[in-house]
Amino acid sequence: MIIIIDEVLAVMNIEQLVTTRRTIKKFKADPVDEALFMKWLQAASLAPNHKMTEPWDIIFAGPETRGKLKHKTDFGGAPEVMAVTVKHGKTDLETVENTAAVACFIQNFMLQAWDEGVGTFWCSLGASKAAREVLGVEEGSEVVGIIAFGYPEEIPAIKDRISIEDKIKKLP
Ligand SMILES: Cc1cc2nc3c(=O)[nH]c(=O)nc-3n(C[C@H](O)[C@H](O)[C@H](O)COP(=O)(O)O)c2cc1C
Repeated sequence: MIIIIDEVLAVMNIEQLVTTRRTIKKFKADPVDEALFMKWLQAASLAPNHKMTEPWDIIFAGPETRGKLKHKTDFGGAPEVMAVTVKHGKTDLETVENTAAVACFIQNFMLQAWDEGVGTFWCSLGASKAAREVLGVEEGSEVVGIIAFGYPEEIPAIKDRISIEDKIKKLP
């Protein structure tokens, strides 16, 4: 089922933002104001991060780079495509924690974007060796996700989740 954006565009509280966000795979060509997404990125960096490593870096892919990434739908025609990378930690645990912090950063970004009617598409394409090279990712960093964003052309229906009751274990 496709929901038309105007029907969900309203002032949303945090629960509504979390529950109405969808992975968008088809975007309008309309640009997103750079001042807006810079604001979301800055605020996203208030994500929790252990030892204040602030382990995220962002690489915006322009048209030439996007072409070289050879994504099958060119990221659904999103006007913006950015890779978000994580720096390795000094230990394996620190690397895991840094990656968790970057995921928080990305979710912060996605929810702020959604709050202003901008949809996001998290792709794992950046993890491939070829994509790393295209993006010029340095040694000691990994791509956590390529995040395409723009105004949605289509918003997919919710993908139901397993009841959280089935995910909870209570210890004595
Ligand atoms: C780490 C990560 C990698 C993902 N990679 C892809 C991807 O390569 N291609 C894709 O279509 N969706 C990708 N997604 C999006 C998921 O498929 C999507 O979140 C899931 O189907 C649930 O849909 P929803 O986000 O609309 O709730 C990725 C999501 C995460 C968190």
